[in-house]
Amino acid sequence: MDRYAVIGNPIAHSKSPRIHAAFAAQTGQQLSYEALLAPLDAFAATVLAFRDTGGRGMNVTVPFKLEAFELADRLTPRAEAAGAVNTLAFGADGILGDNTDGAGILRDITVNLRCPVHGRRVLLLGAGGAARGTILPLLDAAPASLTIANRTAAKAAELAYEFSASGAVRPTGCGFAQLAGQHFDLIINATSASLSDAAPDLPAGLYAPASLAYDMMYGKGETAFLAAARQQGAGRVSDGLGMLVEQAAESFTLWRGVRPDTHPVLAELRASL
Ligand code: ATR
Repeated sequence: MDRYAVIGNPIAHSKSPRIHAAFAAQTGQQLSYEALLAPLDAFAATVLAFRDTGGRGMNVTVPFKLEAFELADRLTPRAEAAGAVNTLAFGADGILGDNTDGAGILRDITVNLRCPVHGRRVLLLGAGGAARGTILPLLDAAPASLTIANRTAAKAAELAYEFSASGAVRPTGCGFAQLAGQHFDLIINATSASLSDAAPDLPAGLYAPASLAYDMMYGKGETAFLAAARQQGAGRVSDGLGMLVEQAAESFTLWRGVRPDTHPVLAELRASL
């Protein structure tokens, strides 16, 4: 049986084995998918041992996405742009590194939530790895504008500069205070603030009518960012559970050549939170 795994540290609470088992059952694919804990200093050795014992591919999660980027022999353009790898595929020609996070969030926003990005004013909060991986897919969707805002303004400016020639629009980068007076149709929280139950300190009045607030994080209750967004007049709010399922579907499609239906899997996960 073809073997797959998600590798990280910690990994025990990963939902990926459950998601991929559901995809496999639904599409009639014979495969196993396990959660693999790698020691912090032995990521590459753990990956290679898995491959050498019949592994076909892996998902990579915290804190190994940069090491996976280094380990890959070949990178997809979207992994190159993200500077990080969340999906590995093992083949005769070496290790392919891909990044499905950006495609996953775009699909959740545009297909599941039916929120168009094309022609809309988009604000991306954060300038770390999670934000970086979202920029190219956002630009590819041709928004009216893309603003990257970060607590440390210089990092947002650098990131905007780096992607200045990547799409039809040129992203701008700034600190949170400089957002005052602007309005956005889509605001994505790619900061890690929700991990500490905090929300980015944003000026009031950023949400246009019918706007969507999207948090990449998810949990049982509403994140601090989504609660603040609702209070600030966001038309709709969504957490990142759909992104998790969609990035998994994108990896599954890369490995197996068949795209699973994410809706029942997302509904089942949502019910179990
Ligand atoms: P990740 O890989 O999840 O993106 P990261 O690279 O450590 O993690 O980046 C974390 C991001 O969250 C950064 O943009 C950070 O802002 P700074 O660059 O100013 O550090 C942002 N962040 C973390 N906690 C935050 C908070 N409480 N409010 C606002 N931004 C926060």
